[in-house]
Amino acid sequence: MSTHIGAQPGQIAPTVLLPGDPLRAKWIAETFLEDATCYSEVRGMFGFTGTWNGQPVSVQGSGMGQPSMAIYVNELYNEYDVQQIIRVGSCGALTADIAIRDVVIASGACTDSSMNRHRFLGLDYAPVADFDLLRAAVDAARAREDITTHVGLIYSSDSFYNPRAAELGKPLVDHGVLAVEMEASSLYTLAASYQRKALAICTVSDHIVTGEETTAAEREQTFGAMVEVALAAALG
Ligand code: ADE
Repeated sequence: MSTHIGAQPGQIAPTVLLPGDPLRAKWIAETFLEDATCYSEVRGMFGFTGTWNGQPVSVQGSGMGQPSMAIYVNELYNEYDVQQIIRVGSCGALTADIAIRDVVIASGACTDSSMNRHRFLGLDYAPVADFDLLRAAVDAARAREDITTHVGLIYSSDSFYNPRAAELGKPLVDHGVLAVEMEASSLYTLAASYQRKALAICTVSDHIVTGEETTAAEREQTFGAMVEVALAAALG
């Protein structure tokens, strides 16, 4: 067992889907995997392993924000020899040409977090997705007619509630950043440090420009499509 994941060695598959919400992990396991069993309930951050199309896959909750996510990702890569992690989460759209329920696949991630700055002694590292996972996910997503997919930079923020979000977001949007979420930047950095693969795919749950929000039912429907894209990209 690692410090925060109650699994024995071998209980976690080389491929892990990583939603922030542990109950989403449970829903993914029950909805998409066969023979799924729960390997960890530590702190209520559930993890499950099952199979998809006969191939082993795990789903692990990560919590919200980069510090929480980084605890699970470090342990998955370092202590369970996980090879690829696909974050399946939600994001807020930053530009008018992205609609709620669209899917954003992050080719790279900017951040206001100090986590990367500390790691790189003040230099600005540019965290990017694994190219093969990115290409496979884009191909899988664009083959579907039920989702509209955008590919590009996202912004991993340390604050969900930030009174200066519009001011901070503007220069990013002016330089092509599509959406805001809270995890991808550190995920990509950790994958690079362990020489493993990572990708973040997010459904747009809210729109920073228009103020629109998805309903719970809409979130579940688009979340399901995104999970299928993630599984196809990782294991298809
Ligand atoms: N995840 C979903 N919506 C978000 C937002 N508006 N800000 C940060 N993370 C998010």
